Amino acid sequence: MIEPLNLAQKPTPINVVSEVIPGIKIHIKRDDLTGLLNSGNKIRKLEYLLADAKNKKCDCIITAGPIQSNHIRTTMFTCALMGIKAVAVLCGEPPKILEGNLLLDYLFGAEIHFLPKAEYDKRKEEFMQELASKYRKQGYKPYLIPTGGSNGIGALGYSAAMQEMARYIKMSAIDSVFCAVGSGGTYAGLLMGKYINGIETPLYGILVDETVEYFTAKIKKIMEEASKILERKFKIDDNDIKLIDGYIGPGYGIPYPKEIEIIQQLALKGILLDPVYTGKAFYGMISEREKLNYNNPIFIHTGGIFSIFAFKEEFLPDYGDLK
Ligand SMILES: Cc1ncc(COP(=O)(O)O)c(C=O)c1O
Repeated sequence: MIEPLNLAQKPTPINVVSEVIPGIKIHIKRDDLTGLLNSGNKIRKLEYLLADAKNKKCDCIITAGPIQSNHIRTTMFTCALMGIKAVAVLCGEPPKILEGNLLLDYLFGAEIHFLPKAEYDKRKEEFMQELASKYRKQGYKPYLIPTGGSNGIGALGYSAAMQEMARYIKMSAIDSVFCAVGSGGTYAGLLMGKYINGIETPLYGILVDETVEYFTAKIKKIMEEASKILERKFKIDDNDIKLIDGYIGPGYGIPYPKEIEIIQQLALKGILLDPVYTGKAFYGMISEREKLNYNNPIFIHTGGIFSIFAFKEEFLPDYGDLK
């Protein structure tokens, strides 16, 4: 078992919002409040991943993700704090304007490599290995973290998060748990936590990328990896993996009007959702109300606050005319 580092502000609070769906209270697990510069779900995964890196005496973290990745921002920040070298491989061309998470990555002094999308899709892992061997030659001991920190080790952070919520879920008679699925680690961890803590409440994951088939396989793989670390077998029932498609919209990282509307509505209640993950997941959750017939849901707010600053036009398309 890996003893996690203590990097996130935990336990995170749970707030309740009403009137989004008439007559229904929505509980919100505020994992957007795990910190400021390390806010969101990634820091819970990093508590385990960086503990593993430290145990292995690694001193150079190499990871990858999209340009506005919250995982990259959180990793770059945390490594800077811990005095560990951090290298990010980002998907795409360097943008003309430095904003959102990317601006912070540079602020934290991260070393950033941009790979054009075709190359990123084809040889991201290979490129990370090349970087690792370059740093090995310089005397570093590199540690590779997959996109989104989603592997068996990272997922342990969300198993622990489920444990943190277990009592609340039981005492408040929560009848459904919802989260966004972007690389699968959060969902896999929560599902393990559900098994470990004997929670019967269904866990729904709203996809923001890829397909149900893709994530069903990936979540199982992550859980298998974690079960080796925990030395505990999970009897994974396929019916327990409840993934919901239909809310990706035009594509990953591309917001749509109904989503923007719900982000604006929630902002007036003091909850800031992000346009890439939690906006889509929250919209998916409320849109599925009739089909799933829940009455007392909890939504895991996995953060993403900074990426909103890279979507100005989507939020205020006519700002130019207002000036
Ligand atoms: C803000 C936010 N919410 C949700 C997710 C999805 O979590 P996971 O990648 O563990 O599926 C991510 C990252 O992908 C994220 O950055």
